[in-house]
Amino acid sequence: MAESAKRVCQNGRQENDLNREQGGPDLLIRNIHVATMADTGEAYGVVRDGLVAVTGGTITWVGAAHTAPREATSGASRTLDGAGGWLTPGLIDCHTHLVFAGTRAGEFEMRLRGMTYEEIARAGGGIRSTVAATRTATAEELCDASAWRLEALAIHGVTMVEIKSGYGLDVDTELRMLRVARTLGERLPVRVSRTLLAAHALPPEYEDRRDAYLDLVCETMIPRVAAERLADAVDAFCEDIAFTPAECARVFDAATAHGLPVRLHADQLSPSGGAELAAGYRARSADHLEYATEAGCRALAAAGTTAVLLPGAYYTLGASRRPPVDALRRHGVPIAVATDLNPGSSPLTSPLLAMNMACVLFGLTPEEALAGMTRHAAPVLGLQGEVGVLSPGMRADLALWDVDHPAELSYWIGANPCRAVVRGGEVYERGPLTGKQ
Ligand code: NIG
Ligand code: FE
Repeated sequence: MAESAKRVCQNGRQENDLNREQGGPDLLIRNIHVATMADTGEAYGVVRDGLVAVTGGTITWVGAAHTAPREATSGASRTLDGAGGWLTPGLIDCHTHLVFAGTRAGEFEMRLRGMTYEEIARAGGGIRSTVAATRTATAEELCDASAWRLEALAIHGVTMVEIKSGYGLDVDTELRMLRVARTLGERLPVRVSRTLLAAHALPPEYEDRRDAYLDLVCETMIPRVAAERLADAVDAFCEDIAFTPAECARVFDAATAHGLPVRLHADQLSPSGGAELAAGYRARSADHLEYATEAGCRALAAAGTTAVLLPGAYYTLGASRRPPVDALRRHGVPIAVATDLNPGSSPLTSPLLAMNMACVLFGLTPEEALAGMTRHAAPVLGLQGEVGVLSPGMRADLALWDVDHPAELSYWIGANPCRAVVRGGEVYERGPLTGKQ
């Protein structure tokens, strides 16, 4: 583990302890400006010269310091001095595939020589090559191989992440991936939400037996995952090189029958009607959406489905078709942004770079990009009302940034101004290397 990763994972509780009187909040964060990201009409939900109080892992008070009532803030067990920085909700990376073995750096080179992602996939590479590596890895090996990627996200202010399976494509490996994702969440200060993505690619041993694989997904994997509570949702990849809309619908029917919410990799490489399909099932999200149509955007809005934009995949694949951001805005579809951290199409370990790309490549505003990793990412994981916005009653999952304005979170390229994260009220400071480095 990198030294900086170790530091962010160390609980910095020993610092700033003072005033251990009874009855006050567990934690008081002072000398900060707050981007609450609450939908108040005010940009970023800003509170300048703010104060945040936390008790029992929950935010108990947020507001301008000079308006703080004595009983809400006095006698704090611990005070964190924000040194004039900005406090935001902890970032939520709502779409990743960060548990896998091996890399696909060789395919990166092949693409640079002119082969497309689809050509590599059809030649047996792509997702299938990561499946081959992941199937042979033990749980311990998978955990060791994946931990640094989750640490990288944590160091950049992420306090909640979604991790998908999808590189096993057999019962044992899919379940192993989901268990590894749970273990990672127990070892690091990041909460993990898990998604079964068994319908990610057709495994080679089912080459001419598509229906038999879907039987396995629908009749064995989904029931087991539901019974053992190994996943919080079910996803599918709706694309020419993966599964048809009818096949994804079958997976969704099985998920719904077992009480699991659904999401969809939709309209990424070609127009497949994915947005409409996701909306028809009231999916929590439709992700990618480069080829989504006007009608698809309208359907997402009507269904209350969030659009998850993944600029890392667009960038890595050298794509030219941007998702229809204007139509999504016009129809009022909530827009989330995520890294899509995966070995093939998006080896992107920085949520801030994902936000920068969402602005530069897709035309989001920095405020939309930050909302996409906070307020609008929470409902994708079914966590609206719990995380994503700073207000009393919400979980104290926070990020403290060494910036002069929250737009800087999308503005710097390759910087990391995250000074500390707070997860459930526990403070994890980044150590001496603070500042934009
Ligand atoms: O979100 N689109 C499908 N799944 C991933 C890519 C996975 C891979 O290439 O390994 C994505 O881009
Ligand atoms: Fe993905």
